[in-house]
Amino acid sequence: MIKKAIAVVVGIIIIQFIVKTLHSMEFLKYVYNHTPGPCRIVPGQGIGYEDMETLPNGLTLITSGIVMPTASPKVHAYHKKHNRRGRIYLFDFNQPDKGIEELTIVGDQFNQSDFGPHGISLWKDNKGKVTVMVVNHDSTGDTLEKFVFMAKDKQLKHVHTYRDPSIHFVNDVAMDSENSFYFTNFAYYKNGLLFLLEYIIPLAYGNLIYYDGKAYHKQYDGFVTINGLMLSHDQKYLYTGETIPQRFHTFTRQKNGTLSRYQEFNAKTALDNPTLDKDGNVLVGSHPILWQLMAHLDNPETPASSQVIKLHMKDGVVTKMTEVFSDNGHTLYGSSVASLYKDAMLVGTVYHKLMYCEVRYID
Ligand SMILES: *[C@@H]1O[C@H](CO)[C@@H](O)[C@H](O)[C@H]1NC(C)=O
Ligand SMILES: *[C@@H]1O[C@H](CO)[C@@H](O)[C@H](O)[C@H]1NC(C)=O
Repeated sequence: MIKKAIAVVVGIIIIQFIVKTLHSMEFLKYVYNHTPGPCRIVPGQGIGYEDMETLPNGLTLITSGIVMPTASPKVHAYHKKHNRRGRIYLFDFNQPDKGIEELTIVGDQFNQSDFGPHGISLWKDNKGKVTVMVVNHDSTGDTLEKFVFMAKDKQLKHVHTYRDPSIHFVNDVAMDSENSFYFTNFAYYKNGLLFLLEYIIPLAYGNLIYYDGKAYHKQYDGFVTINGLMLSHDQKYLYTGETIPQRFHTFTRQKNGTLSRYQEFNAKTALDNPTLDKDGNVLVGSHPILWQLMAHLDNPETPASSQVIKLHMKDGVVTKMTEVFSDNGHTLYGSSVASLYKDAMLVGTVYHKLMYCEVRYID
């Protein structure tokens, strides 16, 4: 009798777990297509433009050639087939027809043949000097690379490599000065199977760290997978999102860098990288159907739907969410970021193409 009761309870727990997992994979979700105006693919190699950031003058820096530490053998084969290299591209919103151009990286301390760029952050000082930080997954582990952007020469001058035990499995970085920054550790395990267990259980080993120019300070942990980062224009707030379980987080920021949790917003879509529009609203490249994203990350040739959402912000709080762009995967696979400048938008992807849209209508 007791044995039977235990079997029933265990059975219910297992069924619940399976249903919950199937639900969270979004097997029953449907994606419609819409754009804010005419869109076109920007010519290029088309094997990924994972993150980007736009300067106030419309110049946009884009990372390409991500190598996730958890990458599957199919991803490595895809990279090989397309002669992947880590690159930073430049796109000028004032001359969209010129397309993208690769920036030359200069500096003896930097090995460009071992470059796997992921998240990017730009910092412009009051003299106009632009410092660039890029998350790098290379063959020796994760680093944060600092460059100075020489716009006239189309160059990135390498200035420093940050290495630390707390720089472990990094996704994105956000500078709050030339020498201090926040970064997210997406997860802990870099082995594909252990990583799968990590987010299914979930162990929630993702964290958010601040480097104040001298030391690394953990701000928050307990995230299942913590992704892109962006500071508000006035630096009072920090924004980030979790891909699983799809929550957008806002933090208030003290002048010394310390964060406090402020709002948690359920976006009901797998969040990737945030950027800001001129009014301080947040655009997030996201993945509306999780099982498609999983299949796509395992094999980049498999389509996955794309989405750009806009989070309308007021004093660090999401007041409304609208959808700017949606594609069921017929044109653009796996959107990871979008940037808006005047009446145009760029949408980047993890392993696929770059899209340029004229923005005729946006809510
Ligand atoms: C640069 O990286 C490549 C690929 O990992 C490696 O074979 C080479 O030895 C590295 N060069 C230096 C100078 O470290
Ligand atoms: C940062 O400043 C706040 C008060 O503004 C203070 O409570 C906190 O201890 C400071 N943190 C550090 C690391 O100095």
